[in-house]
Amino acid sequence: MRLSHLLSNLPPYHFAEYARKIAERRAAGADIINLSMGDPDLPTPPEVIEALAEAAHDPANQRYPEYAGMPELRAAFAQWFAGRFGVTLDATREVLPLIGSKEGLAHLPMVTMDPGDIAIITDPAYPVYPTAIALAGGVAHALPLDVASGWLPDLGVIPDDVARRARTLWLNYPNNPTGASAPRAFFEAAVRFARAHDVLLVHDTAYSEVRFDGARPASILEVEGAKEVAVEFHSLSKAYNMAGFRVGMLVGNASVVEGMTRLKSNLDSGIFRPIQHAAIRAMALPAAWLDARNAIYQARRDRLVAALRRLDMAVESPQAGLYLWPRIPTGYSAAAFALLLLERADVAVTPGTNFGAHGEGYVRISLTTPDARLDEAIARMEAAITARA
Ligand SMILES: Cc1ncc(COP(=O)(O)O)c(C=O)c1O
Repeated sequence: MRLSHLLSNLPPYHFAEYARKIAERRAAGADIINLSMGDPDLPTPPEVIEALAEAAHDPANQRYPEYAGMPELRAAFAQWFAGRFGVTLDATREVLPLIGSKEGLAHLPMVTMDPGDIAIITDPAYPVYPTAIALAGGVAHALPLDVASGWLPDLGVIPDDVARRARTLWLNYPNNPTGASAPRAFFEAAVRFARAHDVLLVHDTAYSEVRFDGARPASILEVEGAKEVAVEFHSLSKAYNMAGFRVGMLVGNASVVEGMTRLKSNLDSGIFRPIQHAAIRAMALPAAWLDARNAIYQARRDRLVAALRRLDMAVESPQAGLYLWPRIPTGYSAAAFALLLLERADVAVTPGTNFGAHGEGYVRISLTTPDARLDEAIARMEAAITARA
């Protein structure tokens, strides 16, 4: 069967390829410890499951859901947002539930750009951004990130002609893959840039609720006037251990929210209502639930950071998010090092270059594995690295 040119230019999703390799080794009997995905291993809270099950019994919830989500879900999200970030959202015009934030991120370029328009992204970045931009016929202009600048892009180096043709600037803090958080001053600078160049800021905040040491990652909408130039993507996947539920949220600029609602009502038919009820229940969980969950991730972070430093792999200790971003030992490319760990240690990590060329020299390690398996992974990594040294 001949498939489209669009598809033939579409690379396999980086995880899809990796998942295939892992599955192959597992089929051959290997006991793989998979540290390559940010897929929460901790269970969804029981009250959330109960809300889902209870709602599923109601025949009204078995019918097609609303395109723009249940008004109760939009209202619950606006209330959650006001409590968490101190920002008021109009639940009708400024909030749109998504079938996971990935779906919304993938559709956004169709709403905000025309073929040939520029989207400014970072390198490294979550791979969905460049793919979605390319599918919409857009051109990505990547700003390199590095450790010296705290993994924040330098907006001052964007050439004038790029700024003129740019329609969107994509940011993601807490950041995947680097683990960096952005200070408020950076968000203020981004809003100033967006206003000066009439560019839409697209802020992906999927990791805002996985936070350590008392940190409270900010929303870009906290910046005065940001709603005029910004939208933000939120996700319940990492926030409430609900990755399989597929529920996220687009908030901010009302015209973009309206455009996205129009596009999506042509493409999908909303989110199964019981999942929306579950999301409402999750957002009402007490702060103590989040603190206890985050304490588990924080302990894993500390355990892994200490172990990686023992292995001479320089790594920062992130304030938020699900990832560590250690430097790899010298003498390897990121891909070669990840392959060494997969083949010699049965440990899967993600090569930094899966997120862009500037990810060279790093691998991404996720915190979604229990302590005993993390210890086992570290022991195997140490053996594989020393055997090679
Ligand atoms: C930066 C970032 N944004 C968005 C997502 C998608 O999250 P979801 O579609 O589960 O809401 C992910 C998932 O890993 C991510 O890393």
